[in-house]
Amino acid sequence: MGSLVACVFILSIATLSSCTTGVPQVPCYFIFGDSLYDNGNNNHLVTEAKANFPPYGIDYSDGPTGRFSNGRNIADVIAELLGFEKSIPPYASASREDIIRGVNYASGSAGIRDESGQHMGGRISLNQQLANHATIILQLADLIGNGNLAPVRKHLHKCIYTVAMGNNDFINNYFYPQYYKTSSLYTPQEYADILVQQYTQQLLKLYEYGARKFAISGAGYSGCAPAMMARYESDVCVDEVNGAVVLFNAGLTSALVELESKLSGAKFVYIEPPLGYSTDFNVTDKPCCNVSTTIGEGQCAPNQAPCSARQNYVFWDAFHPTESVSLVDGASAYAALSPFYVSEVKLSLPVDDA
Ligand SMILES: *[C@@H]1O[C@H](CO)[C@@H](O)[C@H](O)[C@H]1NC(C)=O
Ligand SMILES: *[C@@H]1O[C@H](CO)[C@@H](O)[C@H](O)[C@H]1NC(C)=O
Repeated sequence: MGSLVACVFILSIATLSSCTTGVPQVPCYFIFGDSLYDNGNNNHLVTEAKANFPPYGIDYSDGPTGRFSNGRNIADVIAELLGFEKSIPPYASASREDIIRGVNYASGSAGIRDESGQHMGGRISLNQQLANHATIILQLADLIGNGNLAPVRKHLHKCIYTVAMGNNDFINNYFYPQYYKTSSLYTPQEYADILVQQYTQQLLKLYEYGARKFAISGAGYSGCAPAMMARYESDVCVDEVNGAVVLFNAGLTSALVELESKLSGAKFVYIEPPLGYSTDFNVTDKPCCNVSTTIGEGQCAPNQAPCSARQNYVFWDAFHPTESVSLVDGASAYAALSPFYVSEVKLSLPVDDA
């Protein structure tokens, strides 16, 4: 038995404090994803999908880091709740010793499909994120295995892996016919099926690399993002987009059940993206920052002051949530991860007293 750390934390919109003992509930946490999880991997790529300039990071201790948020993103919140003292480092700048507790491979505009997001420039697709993970495994063999993979494999079995992909396969692929032809080749159901099929192969590869504790997020209901509503010149959520996402998430859910039944020793948790938030978030259809009309799409214009009542906004820019929303989403993801850690944690969620 590992040492059991009992700790109590109170979660509120503004504060998040977890165990201070410095012993995380799992030894390592690996992150695969897109801009919702990216913490700096795109900074040195030639792409419009970047967030390493103000006002991004206005509420983050290190300022703008490449996180597509005013503050912490979901990955930061999950890592914090798991008891990690520091956030999981980005692949782009992780130090040699850092990699033992995990690596964040996430990249803004990246997708399950290699071409997703390509009109914005460079990105690290899920296939490339898996290739980067293979590189890290070799480094771990040197670091903790004396050049051998067996002890590394044992270590990798104990880690949590969150994978959150699919958003850009819709936003920056299927629903962008100016740049991508998938919507003329496939019906939404066919597209959902081929995405799920490819995703399943990618998760299988991650299993072969030693992952056992998987938490997979469904694609977000991006039809409600202000940038998608603007693209469709709609005042309300775009049903066509959300309907396609529903098909994908349904297919993904069954694929995960099947993967779990086939793969010995593996557990897959599915995390359903939220469709709404507490009424404290009373600005749901407008971004908090001034969105650029020249860089990318839906991103904050550099160096302009954002809204001050950030705790009331769902969206920070026209695609990405505020830190306040990530605190809520991160807490529910952490709760969904509970089969993967032993703890005496008492979680008190914010009460919606509407
Ligand atoms: C949101 O709620 C705050 C108080 O919590 C209020 O000051 C603000 O005017 C509200 N905004 C909207 C758009 O309703
Ligand atoms: C945000 O954009 C609006 C309209 O383009 C402009 O009037 C306003 O000054 C900008 N805000 C800041 C803080 O720059």
